[in-house]
Amino acid sequence: MILAVVGAGYVGMVCGVGFAKMGHQVILIDIDSDKVDMINQGRAPVYETGLDAALRGLAPTSLSATSTLDSDSIGNADAIFLCVQSSTADCEGMDLTPVERAARDVGVALRNSSGYPVVVVKSTVSPGATEKRILPILEESSGKRAGVDFAVMANPEFLREGNALADFLCPDRIVIGGVDTKGRAVLGEIYKDFGVPIISVDRTTAEVIKCACNAFLAAKVSFINEVGNICKALGVDTYKVAEAMGADPRISPHFLKAGIGFGGSCLPKDTRSLCMVARELGYEPILLESILQVNDNQPLRLIEMAERKMGRLVGKKVTVLGLAFKAGTDDVRKSPAIQVTKGLCQRGASVTVYDALAEEKAKGVLQDRVIYCPSAVEAISQAEVVFVLTDSDEFKDVELYSGKVVIDGRRVLDDGVRDGLDYEGICW
Ligand code: UGA
Repeated sequence: MILAVVGAGYVGMVCGVGFAKMGHQVILIDIDSDKVDMINQGRAPVYETGLDAALRGLAPTSLSATSTLDSDSIGNADAIFLCVQSSTADCEGMDLTPVERAARDVGVALRNSSGYPVVVVKSTVSPGATEKRILPILEESSGKRAGVDFAVMANPEFLREGNALADFLCPDRIVIGGVDTKGRAVLGEIYKDFGVPIISVDRTTAEVIKCACNAFLAAKVSFINEVGNICKALGVDTYKVAEAMGADPRISPHFLKAGIGFGGSCLPKDTRSLCMVARELGYEPILLESILQVNDNQPLRLIEMAERKMGRLVGKKVTVLGLAFKAGTDDVRKSPAIQVTKGLCQRGASVTVYDALAEEKAKGVLQDRVIYCPSAVEAISQAEVVFVLTDSDEFKDVELYSGKVVIDGRRVLDDGVRDGLDYEGICW
């Protein structure tokens, strides 16, 4: 099928390349012409495991990119996927402005279209947004009617950054939101070779499924972090507790790694978005709010731990290893590691940092408040104390830390290997 993908960020790039790998003909559309040039030269504009290689491995006709969203670029598409971001730096919950703008452009481009195009909202949006905000924009800007001239479907993604292409190609399930018969048939055809259950629901249910999944994962992390904070005070190792909890299949071992908390563009935003929708509906989301509250406090606990150990941090030589919101990505959005680093700078510490993948993006938020180093060894060389903030494999080498105080926010050094180190773990 011919598929247009609007937005060449993490989601759009992965979906575009993934669909092309599955045999569809893809046109990627992004307003950033530098990104478009990169894609057309066979280079992915975002870091994602295996993406560059997959892009280069595609037949030249199966994927192309353009910065023009008009009837020429999307007019022949069987489906048009909206994959633009729904989070912005200064917005706590969802910011639907980019999705709404993309919907407007798509609508204008569809003004003179014939046939029955299927517009698919893949960007994560707050429950009800496709129905109440995106669909009316599409109708107004196209001068056409949903359900008569075109379909509007919701099709959330469940891709983990760093593993997104593999997640796309081997999903656990596919959720299709929308009762439009043609829309369902087109999406059913697009996904027919994935061989996994397709869950068909209405648009708002699909949106709730997406936000509830991320809020549940966030809940698991905040739960184990809260238990971890209690364990720390008791002198108990949370990882032993989590191991035994996870052996119960009703609980499962996933997302029970205690540490400095969850970040990224998804878990915080989607949990916040559910809270906001709940309040609009007159319901106070006590549990969801607590998930976020526990998470907001967690990074600061790490700094307080260092202060208890070493006194005031002003003038101290501190190293931060890992700046991304998790290992294996260059993404620093809502990264707890950035929160810790800013806190250290505010306390007057002299901070060196190392994160090979995330350095460029971190510079955008930390500017010249820290010294960026090309290797962990170099970053640590003068340090009195080292904060380990992602569980990247390269930080597991215990030799790195000899003679330093280690404050571990991710359980990078396990029991046994850290003997002899001046070491403190956040929840163990
Ligand atoms: C998350 C979801 O896992 C995906 O299913 C979803 O598609 C995606 O959001 C999205 O909405 O697009 P992602 O943001 O890439 O994916 O990150 P996760 O791997 O879920 O990790 C989120 C945060 O939780 C990270 O900061 C991670 O370090 C933290 N985490 C995770 C823990 O602190 N402990 C754990 O046990 C697991």
